[in-house]
Amino acid sequence: MSKIYNIAVIPGDGTGPEVITEGVKVLNATSSKFGFRLNLDFFDFGGERYLKTGEVLPDGAVDELRRYDAIYLGAIGHPDVKPGILERGILLRLRFELDQYINLRPVKLYPGVDCPLKDKRPEHIDFVVIRENTEGLYAGAGGVLRKGTPDEVAIQESINTRKGVERCIRYAFEYCKKRNKMNRLTLCGKTNVLTFAFDLWERTFYEVAKEYPEIKTDYAHVDAITMWFIKNPEWFDVIVTDNMFGDIITDLGAMIQGGMGIAAGGNINPEGVSMFEPIGGSAPKYKGQNVINPLAAICAGGMMLEHLGEEKAGKALEQAVMEVTGKHLKGLAAGQMGMSTTEVGDLVADLAAKL
Ligand code: IPM
Ligand code: MN
Repeated sequence: MSKIYNIAVIPGDGTGPEVITEGVKVLNATSSKFGFRLNLDFFDFGGERYLKTGEVLPDGAVDELRRYDAIYLGAIGHPDVKPGILERGILLRLRFELDQYINLRPVKLYPGVDCPLKDKRPEHIDFVVIRENTEGLYAGAGGVLRKGTPDEVAIQESINTRKGVERCIRYAFEYCKKRNKMNRLTLCGKTNVLTFAFDLWERTFYEVAKEYPEIKTDYAHVDAITMWFIKNPEWFDVIVTDNMFGDIITDLGAMIQGGMGIAAGGNINPEGVSMFEPIGGSAPKYKGQNVINPLAAICAGGMMLEHLGEEKAGKALEQAVMEVTGKHLKGLAAGQMGMSTTEVGDLVADLAAKL
């Protein structure tokens, strides 16, 4: 009997369903080749459902999702829904309630991909950002006073708990050790200004570091790291940072690896259910045109397979993607691939099944 994984699929809004269709195609091709099966259940959470029913996530949805081996998410975000409702009500709620405390974002330049940085090639851009995913400025702490008056006060506090910081840092050390590439972990913070929060991060980082003598430690302020990403991306192996800084630097990371068409991420609860997604958003203007790049969703699927323990299958899927970027695609941007969304999915699925 082949192994079966139960996957909750949330195609979501905009081009989410199109890229997820291609992702599923590739996942199915890969799983039959590697001798396991994916049992997929689809959920219609997203802007369309909210506009129809007024409900963001139905009661019991989170507990239902908790029963799966993993969640595969397309994109959340709808032009007719006020910003914040779906993001907080679906994406952030799932991250928080499922305690997906790691946001894992590989930044890797694949062969053949146009890099906006002069003279940088795949051997220069291959690092991973580990972003804390449940605390910091995202926790929603704070409030507003005297709203709408000239005396309005708005406070948004960054929550950093020893437990939250430590589990993230520990995950980062373990990840760096397992990756075994440069064995260098960089803490990204702002210790010169945010002297409460990043003092906690820094102390925890160097305390945990004592347990990992084989890992070289390094520190960069968040503003400086944006310079180094552009100037010397080859310096980085694994980076660990808080929620807000991680959000910002991973968009920059996505750009230097070729853009949102290829950037994938995982929201990980190492002890629970994790969720994998392309990080580019719902791109509503390209919806239904068969022009959006499905590779980010396909790569998110590959990360999901590795997370499930199907590492060979995940690697084969990545190989297939690299072959497509290296030999077949004209570009990564929507409408500029020289191929349609479905053709890219077919090609990766074919290659993955042959590897
Ligand atoms: C991301 C996104 C989300 C975030 C938004 C959509 C809430 O930008 O996954 O990086 O800020 O975390
Ligand atoms: Mn973001």
